[in-house]
Amino acid sequence: MSTLDEKISQLQEIIDSAKHIVFFTGAGVSTDSGIPDFRSQDGLYHLKYKYPPEEIVSHHFFVQNPEEFWEFYKDKMLNLDAEPNLTHKFMAECEKAGKSLGVVTQNIDGLHQKAGSEKVYELHGSVLRNYCTRCGQFYSAEYIKNSSGIPVCEKDGASIKPDVVLYEEGLSDPVIRGAIAAIRSADVLIVLGTSLVVYPAAGLINYFSGKHLVLINRDVTPYDSNADLLIQASFSDVFPKLHV
Ligand code: OAD
Repeated sequence: MSTLDEKISQLQEIIDSAKHIVFFTGAGVSTDSGIPDFRSQDGLYHLKYKYPPEEIVSHHFFVQNPEEFWEFYKDKMLNLDAEPNLTHKFMAECEKAGKSLGVVTQNIDGLHQKAGSEKVYELHGSVLRNYCTRCGQFYSAEYIKNSSGIPVCEKDGASIKPDVVLYEEGLSDPVIRGAIAAIRSADVLIVLGTSLVVYPAAGLINYFSGKHLVLINRDVTPYDSNADLLIQASFSDVFPKLHV
């Protein structure tokens, strides 16, 4: 059994010799930025609300209970003051150094881009984009945050929808195709901060056929036994010890 330091050294060697790293991320990479994840003990899905949080972020709930949806969404999912952490920055640096094909993320917080990543496949959309459901007019996240109650379009009064994939909604085809192409071209896939239980996102890692599948996560995942290198640790114990 290798120690954490030995595993970090192995990861450094993999990164040093990699040419086309793809990072596959989930909510865990943003917890060090103060944004709770979903399924950890202090995650959003363990909150006591009038409705189960997992149901609140579903399409039928958005349509049937807009007031409760927006209250939860504005309070818990719009973290507009959050700043990228060392883990986001490390991934961005890999891309700048020409070592990474980009990030495939389930996150909707925009922190990869804020850290400097340019190629980001946002499987579940982004809170930073919002559109009128009738005329398609764009609205910023600040507009949503500052609206009272249900945000509506200034032009036609119709409701606005965040460009976020809710349960029961499909993922964007071009984004999925781009993510699959990147994963297929990767020689190293580093999966981090995700419980890997939400599909179709989690299934995309099966398209990887490169040299090293690395999985870094605090808790166990259903894909742990598939990893060539499994690092079960907090990111704050790993990324400060790595360099690009
Ligand atoms: P989860 O909350 O399911 O998983 C986050 C994982 O990150 C957990 O397994 C934690 O152990 C790990 N983690 C958290 N903080 C960490 C840290 N500082 N260091 C190391 N590991 C850490 O989040 P996701 O897998 O992203 O979808 O959830 C997937 C999807 O479920 C989300 O995109 C969202 C949600 O429903 C939609 O809203 C459509």
